[in-house]
Amino acid sequence: MASHAGDLDLQAVVLAAGKSSRFKTGRTKLVEKICGREMVLYPTGVLASLNVPVVMVVGFQHDAVEETVQENFGDTVTFVHQKEQLGTGHAIECTQDAWNTENILILNGDMPLITKDIIQKLARKHTEADATVTFATAHHCDPEALYGRVIQADDDIQIVEAKDFEGDLSENCCVNAGVYIIKRSFLNEYISQLRQHASTKEWYITDLIQLASKNKLKVQTVPVPFDRIRGVNDFKELWAAEQIKKSEIIQYWMSNGVRFSIAHNVQIDWNVTIGAGSFIGSGVQLLRNTTIGKDCVVGAFSFLRNVSIGNRTKVHTHSVVAKAEIGNDCNVGPFAFVHGNSVIKDNATIGSFVEINRSEVGKFSKAKHLSYLGDTTVEEHANIGAGVVACNYDGANKHKTRIKDGAFIGGNNTLVAPVTVGKKAITAAGSTITHDVPNNALGIAREHQVNKEEYAEKIRKKNNTQVNRPSEDSSFAHSGIIAKQYTEKQ
Ligand code: UD1
Ligand code: CA
Repeated sequence: MASHAGDLDLQAVVLAAGKSSRFKTGRTKLVEKICGREMVLYPTGVLASLNVPVVMVVGFQHDAVEETVQENFGDTVTFVHQKEQLGTGHAIECTQDAWNTENILILNGDMPLITKDIIQKLARKHTEADATVTFATAHHCDPEALYGRVIQADDDIQIVEAKDFEGDLSENCCVNAGVYIIKRSFLNEYISQLRQHASTKEWYITDLIQLASKNKLKVQTVPVPFDRIRGVNDFKELWAAEQIKKSEIIQYWMSNGVRFSIAHNVQIDWNVTIGAGSFIGSGVQLLRNTTIGKDCVVGAFSFLRNVSIGNRTKVHTHSVVAKAEIGNDCNVGPFAFVHGNSVIKDNATIGSFVEINRSEVGKFSKAKHLSYLGDTTVEEHANIGAGVVACNYDGANKHKTRIKDGAFIGGNNTLVAPVTVGKKAITAAGSTITHDVPNNALGIAREHQVNKEEYAEKIRKKNNTQVNRPSEDSSFAHSGIIAKQYTEKQ
């Protein structure tokens, strides 16, 4: 299939074999996540969207990289193994047998912010100038930054790595981005002429620039914004890249009608979707495949992971919803915990300190306070009183509870599963329900109350105690003084 990178017939080589030593985790950085997506998938995704076939160089912990890439891009990416990590020049040499287009696009795998238009711009310039090598540059003045510096004098152009640079780095602000288009004929002829650097024992792809220039072959550069080509070599750079990615995602949703109360402390993954008119509170986390409909509210500090929410639903502050489906016009929280593939149907209410686990709550049903419903089906228009617990676990097995249409479960009930409360049935407050309650019945399962007249006073006398009374020096009196002082200040 023809690629969309201009008229150029391109094949890409993505370098993803490096040891990631600056991360100091002992793991490959290429599968570190940025806004919920493995780093290497960003450039790979850009290439896929341009229909450019990808050869990926893998080596260090290649299983992890290959698995992630295959999971997301199937067989469209082929892998070449670089057995020893001997530098970017060596990495590209390893792919020689796989080259099959006239021009090869090479890019570092650690650039998650790269966009389509940079590659298209590079391809355009390369074609128009009929260049041998075209590469992207950016302006970055930080002398600490370990980017290769592009040095140009008269007709000579070369890239000098920061650690080999002699002179003032802050005066050489033109850095090498790590994206190149190179003629295959040139690569075939010159790749073997790269020399190992004594200081690092590595071969550098960047030395190809000087080789082309010295041989009077055309080298072109394309300036691009630094933020788009940031490399990620340690957790500080990952954090910087993630801030940019996150702010792009948030701005995208803002431009689609989503209000963020305090955007900078929201965490949002790249594939989350939010409908217009919705409001996202401070400190909210929206993770993985979470989708939120139109005109919803997600209150401050709520955590949503793999959740689908309909329209006009409110998830109030400090709720945790993980792996769940919530319908339209629902109210959840504050302080609710909904998880385990639970389904909350339209117009239902899950209130504060209510946990819903592996359960379904039907339309217009309510569980407003302090309850646990596990392995439970609540049908429609049912009411679950405060403090209801579905005892689903007997220590060995989990059992199911069914609460049918219109049933009313009194406060502080214990429903010992397996058990069913019938349609429109009522259970008395404080009951321990161990047997099914028929439709329309009243289930009572508690001791009768006995009142012993005047007995309270007898007990107090026996214990020599008194009824508690608030002292005059109570906190109410204090708050009165504070309020007065404050208003005098106005
Ligand atoms: C590289 C460039 C530098 C440029 C910068 C841009 C070289 C020598 N330097 O430096 O000029 O400014 O990128 O971000 O190319 N890799 C392999 N095999 C290896 C070594 C590395 O596949 O043997 C892969 C890494 O996994 C990484 C990419 O190549 O994805 C770049 O390697 P890295 O070590 O990050 O290069 P930089 O030091 O950033
Ligand atoms: Ca890098």
